[in-house]
Parts: sequence; structure tokens; C-alpha cells
Amino acid sequence: MAEIGLVGLGVMGSNLALNMAEHGHEVAVFNRTTEKTDAFVGGAGGLAKKLTATHTLPELAKAIRGPRPIIMLVQAGTAVDEQAEALLPYLDRGDMLIDAGNANYRDTRRRAEAYAARGIDFVGIGVSGGEEGARHGPSIMAGGSEASWQRIAPVLTDIAAKFNGEPCAARVGPEGAGHFVKTMHNGIEYADMQMIAEVYGIMRDGLGLSPSAMADVFALWNGGRLKSYLIEITATVLDALDPETGKPLVDLILDSAGQKGTGRWAAIEAQDMGVPATVIEAAVAARVQSSEREVRIAGEKLFGAAKRKIAVADREAFIDNLETALLAGKIAAYAQGFAVMAKASETWGWQTPLGTVAKIWRAGCIIRSAFLDDIATAYASGAPVGNLMMVAPFDAMLKETHDSLRRVVADAVLAGIPVPALSAALAYFDLARTARSTANLIQAQRDFFGAHGFQRTDRPGTGLHGPWSKG
Ligand code: 6PG
Repeated sequence: MAEIGLVGLGVMGSNLALNMAEHGHEVAVFNRTTEKTDAFVGGAGGLAKKLTATHTLPELAKAIRGPRPIIMLVQAGTAVDEQAEALLPYLDRGDMLIDAGNANYRDTRRRAEAYAARGIDFVGIGVSGGEEGARHGPSIMAGGSEASWQRIAPVLTDIAAKFNGEPCAARVGPEGAGHFVKTMHNGIEYADMQMIAEVYGIMRDGLGLSPSAMADVFALWNGGRLKSYLIEITATVLDALDPETGKPLVDLILDSAGQKGTGRWAAIEAQDMGVPATVIEAAVAARVQSSEREVRIAGEKLFGAAKRKIAVADREAFIDNLETALLAGKIAAYAQGFAVMAKASETWGWQTPLGTVAKIWRAGCIIRSAFLDDIATAYASGAPVGNLMMVAPFDAMLKETHDSLRRVVADAVLAGIPVPALSAALAYFDLARTARSTANLIQAQRDFFGAHGFQRTDRPGTGLHGPWSKG
């Protein structure tokens, strides 16, 4: 009998099933289109003996040893509710439904509560790493109770990516916490990708570098402090040629970015929690604006293109400075993402172990990087981590790098190269070190038109008002 079930043999589902089989776990698989199930098991080679193809839900339920854990990898949204409802008649109390898709954590909270009342343990887990990760080791962010985690941990830690031998799978809190952490992973992923794209824009339009020259730059950076999966694939992508035309493929790809929604959720949640996550927000908005291609084309006709060229005396030094600026931007973006998770954890009483989150992001996931090991170390030192920008080693790193970020943003702005995420990072940093902000004026305005009251710096008291004469 199978020890686990898996429903949904799309790209992620089929690769996760193979990964589990490869680690010796017996998996009963089901897909709505039954031919797909047979084709999958039939094509699994030596791993097929660990896989049981099932063609109906009762058959699936019968094939799994109780209490059953069943992983669902169906499209996020109503399909999850439909699939869970369809399975329910064949489940027993104590069975576990595991949603491994990119669900909205609010849905997961609702489902966990609704199914608990029906005796089913509904667990939401975030899985990152794309197709390759699912097959050979993803990063897994599990929600649910400690007892639920203990039940599924043996399989999940087996199939997860390993960093220095440590599995990149962990429980990050109850109910919706796993999907929330995955959402913030994706928000940070958007920020990382946008800042990389902005730096690419500076090199392409400001310096006039060719894709292959930029590939060399990114490859070089991947040997330094920016070492990460996203920098690595950027180098590979920039080097790729279109087989049909022989031209750099990146030059032929339409400049209109898609999004499935998780990055946007991260920005929405940040707003909802009242935590500034401006780099993530800028990245989401930049994707949206990229998709408004017609408007951009009309805009360039109307206003003319900016000059975009940056006159550079020492190209090598300029590129070194770009690398440093990107690091500074990255620190701000991660500080924001971790601050949102800290707030969510506090709001919902999740006790999300943020150091563990950093640890399980060190391998397997899309934002995996050397940098995350520094974040894990910062948390491991036990220092009271308020804002990541202000604790070691990031405080020292920012002291060293923020000026590069300022120079890069200034050069780009003067040349008319849009850098919304890098500028948001810089503004966030500058605000974070402005002891006397300009919000005194906002308070005065609020009091003027709405009698909202303010506090004074020279004496105690709240709800104070100004002597406004509105005549
Ligand atoms: C991951 C990715 C993945 C993501 C898709 C597309 O961690 O493996 O974040 O989950 O959802 O790659 O995301 P967008 O369509 O939103 O860019």
C-alpha cells in the first residue's frame, strides 16, 4: 500500500511524485484525465514500481495506508476547494489533505478551519524551486500543527533540497503560515528579479553593452557576494542565442512581464499589515506597467525617449559599483520581506521561526543565495532582529554599499532609465535613517482639515490641536 497520495500530475505534481518515489516512498497518484496518470506511471522507468496509478478517487483512497496523507497539486483557487470536496466522501477522520500549490494563505486558513470541523487535517505547504526543484529538491515551507508536521516531515525532508546536509523543509507556523511564507518568498523573488532587470537596463541602455557582455558581468557577480540562482540564470539567459535567427534570444522576447498573483499578494499583505514593503510593491507595479505596452509606446511617441546613455569614464569601476548597488538594494528588499513575515507572525500568533525561513531558503527555492546564509546567521546569533538592515552583518554591509546605490540611482534617473525598485530601496534606506522625518507636516495638515490631533516634541500629551485660523 502507498504511504502517500498525490492528486494533480501537472509539471509540479509529476516531478514531486518522481522525487518521492526516488527517495523510496510509495506514492498513489491520481489525475483527472486518467490517460495522463497511465502515461506518467508508464514513463517513470525504474521508479514506476513505487508509483500506483489510480483512476478514480475511491481507488486512490483505497490505495493509501491510513491515516492518509494526500498531496494536492491543482490550480490555486476554487479548484482546490472542488478537489478537496470531491475527495472528502472517501476520506476518514484523521486523514490529511496537503495543498502544495501557491494558495492564498487566507484561503488556507479558512480551509484548515472548515476541514478540522469535519475531522480532516488540512495543511498548506509552500513549495518553491520550479520544475527542477520539484524533481530534485525543492524548498518546502509547511503550515499546520506540530503534530501534522511530524507526520509529513519524513517524506518532505527526504525530498527537499539540502544545504550543507540540512533539509530545506520546515514547519513555519500553523494553518496559513506556510502559504504566507511562500507568498513573501515570491514577493522577494519579484523584487530580486526587478532589481536585476533594472541593472540590466542600465548596462544595456546606459552603457550599450551586448547581451553576451552582460552575461559575463552576471557570471562574474555570481562568483561574489551576489552569488544566487537568479544571478546565475540571468547570465545563462543573456548568453542564449535564438536557434532560428542566431540573435541573442533576450533581444527577441517581448518586454511585457506576466504574473500569476503571488507577488501582488505579498504587496497587498504588506499594505494590510501596515509594513512598508516598497521594493516589492515597486516590482509588482513595474510588471504591471511593463504589460501596458501600448501606453508605453504612445508615451515614447508623445514625450520622446529619454537619452538613456550614461557617460562613463571607467567602465569597470562603474560595473563594480552596480554590483555593490544591487547588494544594497537586496538588503533593503529582504529587510522589508522579513519585516512583513515578522508582523504576520505576531498578528496571527504563528511564532514563525524567521531564522528557519532563511535557512530553508538557502537551497531549492528560486531566491536561493549565499546572502540567505547571512540572514540565517543573523537570526542564529540570537540578536533581537528588528529591521534586518540594522543588525550584523547587514548594518556594516549597508554602510559600505548605500553610497553605490545612491550613485547608481542618480545616474539612472539623470539618464531617464527607470529604476523603480532600486529607487524604492534607496528611499527606504534614507527614510530608515532620518530621525526627523517630514511627517510633522502631514500631522499638521491632518489636524488642519480633520482635527485629527497631534503630539508635540516639546511636551507630553496626545490629541493636541493647532491654532488654525481657517477664515
Ligand atoms: C517558485 C516560484 C513559482 C512561481 C512561478 C511563476 O518559488 O518556484 O515562485 O512558485 O509561482 O514561477 O510566478 P509568476 O507568474 O507570478 O512570476
